[in-house]
Formats: sequence, C-alpha cells, structure tokens
Amino acid sequence: MAANAASTNPTVLVVDFGAQYGQLIARRVRDLGVYSEIVPCDMPAAEMAALKPVAIILSGGPASVYAEDAPTVDAGVFDLGVPVLGFCYGQQIMAKTLGGTVSHTDKGEYGPAPLTRTDAADGESALFADTPAEQTVWMSHRDAVSQVPEGFVITSRTDVCPVASMECASRKLYATQFHPEVRHTPYGDVMLKNFLFGICGLERTWTMDSIIEDSVAAIREQVGDSRVILGLSGGVDSSVVAALCAKAIGNQLTCVFVNHGLLRKNEPEEVEEVFTKQFDVDFVHVHAEDRYAQLLAGVTDPEAKRRIIGEQFWKEFFAVAEDLAEDGRPVKYLAQGTIYPDIIESGARKTGGKASTIKSHHNLIPFPDGVHFDLIEPLDHFFKDEVRALGTALGLPDHIVHRQPFPGPGLAIRIIGEVTPEKLEILKNADAIVREELDAYNEALFRQTGERAAELTRESAGGPEVERPVWQYFAVLPDVRSVGVMGDERTYQRPIILRAVESSDAMTADWAKLPYEVLARISSRIVAEVPGINRVAYDITSKPPATIEWE
Ligand code: XMP
Repeated sequence: MAANAASTNPTVLVVDFGAQYGQLIARRVRDLGVYSEIVPCDMPAAEMAALKPVAIILSGGPASVYAEDAPTVDAGVFDLGVPVLGFCYGQQIMAKTLGGTVSHTDKGEYGPAPLTRTDAADGESALFADTPAEQTVWMSHRDAVSQVPEGFVITSRTDVCPVASMECASRKLYATQFHPEVRHTPYGDVMLKNFLFGICGLERTWTMDSIIEDSVAAIREQVGDSRVILGLSGGVDSSVVAALCAKAIGNQLTCVFVNHGLLRKNEPEEVEEVFTKQFDVDFVHVHAEDRYAQLLAGVTDPEAKRRIIGEQFWKEFFAVAEDLAEDGRPVKYLAQGTIYPDIIESGARKTGGKASTIKSHHNLIPFPDGVHFDLIEPLDHFFKDEVRALGTALGLPDHIVHRQPFPGPGLAIRIIGEVTPEKLEILKNADAIVREELDAYNEALFRQTGERAAELTRESAGGPEVERPVWQYFAVLPDVRSVGVMGDERTYQRPIILRAVESSDAMTADWAKLPYEVLARISSRIVAEVPGINRVAYDITSKPPATIEWE
C-alpha cells in the first residue's frame, strides 16, 4: 500500500449513493479536522469494518429507494457499533432498511426550507445541540420518510416533510432529510461538529501538522534505506511530494524532470530554476523532446496520445533509475503526485473500479514490459486544496502552491489531432498570451475577493483557504481552419479556443464569466501576435457535461 497519512488516522467513511454532494461531505469532515474517505455503497459491511471506521455517513443520492435498481446498503452497517449519520437518501435508506416507511410527498421540496425542531420526550437531540428551535435548512427531495423505524424518534419537521430528521440515540443512529454539508444550511457545520465531536467523541487529528508528521513517518517506514526517484513536473502536486520526500528521506531522493517538449512557453527553464536554486535536492533534467516528437507523429486519438506519453514517462524514469544504479545503489521506488480526484476520475485501482474511465490519467497508466518500480504516492488521499494547504505548511513558495493544474500529457491534449512542431509553436505562443492576460485579471480579482473572504473567514472562525477566482485557464488548438480577412487579404487559418473555468477540485467546473473587455483583449492580442491564427472562440461549457481539458 502507498505511504500516506490517511492510513493511520481515525476515519469517517462516507458511503456514496451517487450523491451530487458526496465529496463535499468528505471535504467538510476533513475541514473539521477528522479524516474522511468515500466508499461505494455496495461495499459489504465486513469490508467497511476492515477499514476500522470510527463513524459512517450515508450520503444522498438521486434514486428513489423504491426504484428497481435503487442502491441499497448492507444492513450490517447499522450493527458495526459505530455511529451512523444519514443525509437525504441516506436517511431514507436507513429508514427503509430498519423497518420504517418512505413515501412520495405531495410536492417535492427544493432549496431553503424553514425547519422546526421537535425534540422528543427523551430530551434534546445531540445532533441539534446549540442550534435554534427554528432554522433554515437546504432540502432537495421528492420522497421522504413517513414512518420512522422502531426505536427512532422524530427530531425536526418542515411544512412539507414530517420527518426532516430522526434518530435512535441509544444505537447512535442519526439522519436528516436535509443537507447539513452544504453552506446553505447555516447550522450544518454545527451539526457535523455535534456528530463528530459530541456523539462520536472524536478529536481533531487531521491537521496540517499531524498530516505532515504522519506522511513523513509513513514515507520513512515504506522506504527504509532504499533509493527513490520522483517524477517532478513543477506543478503543485509533485512539488509537495518533493518537499515531503526531501523532509522524510533527504539525499535518498533524486527528482527527475522529464521534458517531453509539450510544456508551456518558458516552463522547463522555470522548473529547473526553482528546483536547482530554491530546493536542496538532487535534480535531473531529461531532454526527451525528440523521442516524444517521434512517438507522437501521426497519432490523433486522445487516449492513444495519453497512453504513449504515459508509457514513455515510465521508460524515461526507468532509464534514469538504471543510470543512477551504476554507482551500486539501485532505485527501488518512484514517488509521484497522484491525488485523490485523479484516482476517482480514472475509475481506477483504489475505488474498486466502479467509475467509468473518462480519461487515462498519465500517472495511472500501467508499466510497460521491462519497467518496474514500487510506487510512493503520499497525496493519493488528498483533495487539491488540501495539497495546496500542505504545500504552504511545508514552506513552498506561493507561486508554486497556487500554480494551476497542468496535465502530465501537456499541450498534446490541447492540440486536437496530430501534434506537430508548427502547432506546438502556435499553441505555446497563444497560451502565453492567455496566461499573461488572465494572470493579471485573476490576481486583481483575488486581491478584492480575498480581502472580503478573509473578513468572512474571520467572522465564521475558520474555513478553507481562499482559492483564486478563475481556477484554470489555457488555450486549445482545434484541428479546423476558417476563413478570415487581414489587411484586405483572405486568410484560411486556425482558431484558438480559450478555456477558463471556476472549480475547487476539478471534479466539477463552471466556465468563468470573464468580462468582455478581457475577452476582447485576449482575442485581439492572439490574432495580432500569433502567426497562423485568425479567430478566437470561448468555450462556454461546464463540467459536466464537458471536461476541463479537450482531450
Ligand atoms: P478534465 O479534463 O478531466 O481535467 O476535466 C480535470 C483536471 O485534471 C487535469 N488533468 C490532468 N492532470 N495528468 C494530470 O496531471 C493528466 O493526465 C490529466 N488530465 C487532466 C486537468 O488539467 C484538470 O485540471
């Protein structure tokens, strides 16, 4: 198993019934200082027990509990002896499994709803401690519990929903029809704290200091006195792994930067500068530009490009490892910056392979014949903003911590169709303009909203680190040409597509509502300054249904 801090932390399992808010629940729990992990709803109770959870949260989900293929939960979950909390579908499945009744309500209930607590005869509900008798909650449902299981009491209601929450305190089973995990439920955080710290008696152990300490210890334990190479891209994820590994194993580490020629303008130079001047680590810059150009010639299929690039990464790392081993100290491990969403999105290894493969993440391509490493992936249970917070806590400079994600396959998946030197040149130049303009816009906006957010954070005492407003932006070069007119001459050239999104973890994203002036400046600069481009279009699709990258 990969070394990570998660394996040693008390864990709250979030059982996922296909919720829109599944990850959000895990995030909220972690923000409160308790480690939390998502598991699929068809995991048998015995398997969950093997993960030694300290509590279980049943997420919401889009299905009706009476639908033919409605997800169910192993009834053994309620007998594991750990507190269980259900939200929305989670409440309904708890009720149905334990002998209660779920019915259709006359009308659904969506959005904010006024809720009244109905504390039962046996005293105040521990879940609602320190919350008012009347409060607003966020609802999103059509079905609702109409009769609670034996031993349960109703603890709140709304006009539409007679059982807005229920509990069986003696068995530590709690559930709400509403969503405490969303910010629109103002006392949601209080309820989550009540559950974690009051009902479950947990402590805040998932803090940056403890994460660093545990990660360093886990890496040391896994590695022993072996030698490690680290696939470094200069992005925040691999940089944080570099800082963690440097702290854990010092000079047993060699950072390897594979330059595949698909990086953004000036990027290789910047990476080399940071890792040779600002860090005290062994750094190897591999010039693989020609090898990649040859391998990609004539390749147009997105997954084929990803596979070729991913496989070649492994071969390049392996070649470096063999060179290093000539001094008689073989390299056993490869460390890399795989993070939790990479794993979920690749439908991969550790989630039980349930999600479908949307894109093959370059880190998760299988080793080709003849290549082998044991992997160290200390971030494979972290969300992106946790990685950034970790980077800051480890003392990485701000410009690395707040770097935008850049995919391992690089510009190859932003050039639709075959990758050629000419197209690469065009895209690098257009992308540099996009970044220059949007960096300036984003920083200005961040300073304004950052000040406001800092105020809000002070008001609410805590809260996640403030992200830059536009989360990721770049240029895409599609494989089409269109007619234009420049200086009275007909042109027949390529367009550039601008992509700019707001997101917090790349799992979902919305296109950024950039001001017209900014769009206009980017458009006119690209057409004027980048030969071969005569048109600029803006991608106004969210994720889903699109993805952030075009391939
Ligand atoms: P998509 O296009 O799947 O991208 O919505 C989600 C986020 O992941 C980045 N991305 C990658 N990062 N290797 C990476 O390191 C990859 O193979 C890869 N593919 C996509 C993408 O830039 C976005 O931030």
